[in-house]
Amino acid sequence: MSITAFENIVNNRRSNRKFDTEIEVPDEIIKKAIELAILAPNSSNMQLWEFHWIKDKSVQEKFHPICLNQSAAKTAKHLIAFVGRRDLWKSHADWNLNLVKEAIGDREPTKREKRGIDYYGILMPLVYRRDWFGFSTLIRRVICFIKGFSNPFMRINGNRDQNVIVQKSCALAAQNFMLAIGAQGYDTCPMEGFDPILARKALGLPKGAELNMIVAVGKGTPEGIHGERKRLPYNDTVIIH
Ligand SMILES: Cc1cc2nc3c(=O)[nH]c(=O)nc-3n(C[C@H](O)[C@H](O)[C@H](O)COP(=O)(O)O)c2cc1C
Repeated sequence: MSITAFENIVNNRRSNRKFDTEIEVPDEIIKKAIELAILAPNSSNMQLWEFHWIKDKSVQEKFHPICLNQSAAKTAKHLIAFVGRRDLWKSHADWNLNLVKEAIGDREPTKREKRGIDYYGILMPLVYRRDWFGFSTLIRRVICFIKGFSNPFMRINGNRDQNVIVQKSCALAAQNFMLAIGAQGYDTCPMEGFDPILARKALGLPKGAELNMIVAVGKGTPEGIHGERKRLPYNDTVIIH
């Protein structure tokens, strides 16, 4: 793909707040965009995310007040909730671990494969484990302090760091999704303007799952674009070291 083709996709994506309610968005468009969202880079390939495709009209209507009656939500043909699933770390670490083990089979593991086993078998539990009394966080703090005392070290301490890791990957998936919808001729509006407690309840999310954003999808209208795209000047936001 040329940079021009990519530039067109990026330039054409605007947050559209009013979709044409007469134009449907076929399911294949959404499915394709979710497939491409799944290909987003994500921390340690742990894929601690979930994509809740809110397709049913009656469920969508439940989401109108949850999304604060924003017109993007009310006129959307589909709503996709991007959800961080930090709580699934164990099963996803095991999934990755099994991939490494299956590739090894009965032979001796290579150095790289041994590193893979340690990565998903030891490091990921160290990064993601939580307990009621905060022992895991305490252990992480001590390790970070000792290891980071004299050498550079990736400092992952507690809940906040874990959530940031998960949410970063989730937002990258949402961006892939929005660009993929744009590339197929439809429009999106990412929304953080929703009630997180009601949204969690409506989606039946367990404790440990955190909503990242809800993306409204439809065929955009000119009124849905609120003015020209404005960004701070390049030189005010790029710092060259
Ligand atoms: C995480 C996130 C949350 C957002 N939440 C809302 C929202 O709740 N409602 C809305 O109308 N726009 C929302 N936006 C859209 C932004 O306002 C929009 O991206 C920004 O103004 C730049 O415009 P553009 O997307 O057309 O380039 C959100 C964007 C992001 C990335």
